[in-house]
Amino acid sequence: MSTSSENIREVDVAIVGGLFALCVLSGSLTYIVIGGPTGLFTGLLLHRLGVSVCILDAKAGSLDLGRADALNARTQQYLEVAGLLDELLPLGLKCNTSSTFADGEFKSRQNKWWVGIEHALHKNFLMIGQPVIEAMLNSRLKGLVYHGQDVVNVAEDEEHVHVTTSTGFKVRSKYLLAADGARSFVRNALGIDFTGTKPEMLWAVLDTFIESDFPVCPEIITFQAHGQSRVSWIPRERGLSRFYVLLEGEVSQKRAEESIKKHMAPHSVEFKQTEWYSTFDVKERIASSFISKNGNGRVLLAGDAAHVHSVNGGQGLNTGLSDAFALAWRLAMVTKHDLPEAASKKLIQSYDLERRTTAKNVIDVAAALVRDTMREAKEYVATIERNAGYITGMGVSYEGLNSPLVKESSYSFWTAGARCPDVVVTGSEQPGPSWLYSHVEYGKFIVLSIGQVPHPYMKYQHVLQFISIFASPPEGSNNPAQGEDRDTHSLSGKMFRADWVLPEDNYIIVIRPDMYIGYIATCEQGWQDYIASICV
Ligand SMILES: *[C@@H]1O[C@H](CO)[C@@H](O)[C@H](O)[C@H]1NC(C)=O
Repeated sequence: MSTSSENIREVDVAIVGGLFALCVLSGSLTYIVIGGPTGLFTGLLLHRLGVSVCILDAKAGSLDLGRADALNARTQQYLEVAGLLDELLPLGLKCNTSSTFADGEFKSRQNKWWVGIEHALHKNFLMIGQPVIEAMLNSRLKGLVYHGQDVVNVAEDEEHVHVTTSTGFKVRSKYLLAADGARSFVRNALGIDFTGTKPEMLWAVLDTFIESDFPVCPEIITFQAHGQSRVSWIPRERGLSRFYVLLEGEVSQKRAEESIKKHMAPHSVEFKQTEWYSTFDVKERIASSFISKNGNGRVLLAGDAAHVHSVNGGQGLNTGLSDAFALAWRLAMVTKHDLPEAASKKLIQSYDLERRTTAKNVIDVAAALVRDTMREAKEYVATIERNAGYITGMGVSYEGLNSPLVKESSYSFWTAGARCPDVVVTGSEQPGPSWLYSHVEYGKFIVLSIGQVPHPYMKYQHVLQFISIFASPPEGSNNPAQGEDRDTHSLSGKMFRADWVLPEDNYIIVIRPDMYIGYIATCEQGWQDYIASICV
């Protein structure tokens, strides 16, 4: 790309000085992230890990209304680890049940894919609008987000990525995250393919306050008429209702409201105030690589820029936030810890492997769901049930992908490549039971040792956190926590007890910073080799 090379030089000489000065004030600029929840979440995680970020957002401000509506169980776990969930919980509405309604009555209610989730605290969707999430992220990123910055040029060389915006703002960085939506300028500019299918389905979507004699309940309701399931009602925060309506022929707000009334009959419905009305046509597309230069570049794609699909199953925002959680620690590792090039490549390329495979599956699940809206509600719900692992987020796994960050192994309810179970522990610091996820810190590997105290690994201690969990003392004994008596090698890890630990247990689980299990080891050397295989 010779023309791009010329542009880079121009950008470097003419602007990097000014821009660089701006960024050098707070350390050398490392990242540019482009707005929206995926970009904002990545930016916040990076910022917290001490990586300098500059976020360019094409929008003039935060989103006010509409868009995505639910955080699944896995995303809630991520937000908990990031210390953000407590702020969102009181603003959202919990929902763990899907029901179907036809011919004037409820036909079925199902929630086993939510209530049956094991090893998790929040077994529900948290219904909450995307604007609330963006506002929360923006408020924590003051001074790092530049609004109204449309990217007009992007180029990368061996060392840097150069971006110019419509206002003439120029940024040079080591990596660029393109989270700039389905029509991603960056993806197009770099010529990364974005291919797939486009079923001809146009949906209307409304956020509205209704008055109705319908028996209101905090459930996702799929309405069936004439053997199809073209209306869904999602309960939301503030008493708001979100409706998805698949129409035939002309799509308008008026026709969507008429369809809702027809499906909810014989109950009456009045639309009191509609906050947001939009339409979307279903596209199912995925980028050919989530990394520029076919996996060897410095530009990474995430969120809608990397994958788009129908909203059925609520996976869009959740998959984007999961991309962010999967990516930020990798970028922090490669920029802060002076890793050898091969190690950096492994970390960055495994992002593409793991997240692109996940995105393909997400697209398949959403595709099955959106097509089943043309079928009976019970078939639609059966498809939800079959694909619940993706809808709750808890079944997304990196097992069997040959990821260099997963060393196939399993023991008890721990499996390398699967999500780390959230388990109940009892700590010495606080009385009573608590959850493992509430004790971890984003950005470090967790060396979780069961029934023993691990030797610290001096070389990579800066990226490790140590947690030891011992068997509970027998009932009635007033032994102190076993661990407190042990030689702890002057190790300042956290220590807990748990009744799921057996007296003979003695193993170590390495949990990656994105809360996926990397390796389960039965000897000390094993886990240290695993860490070395990533950091060296
Ligand atoms: C499911 O949701 C209902 C209604 O909000 C709640 O009462 C119930 O405790 C939830 N079940 C589980 C297992 O979380």
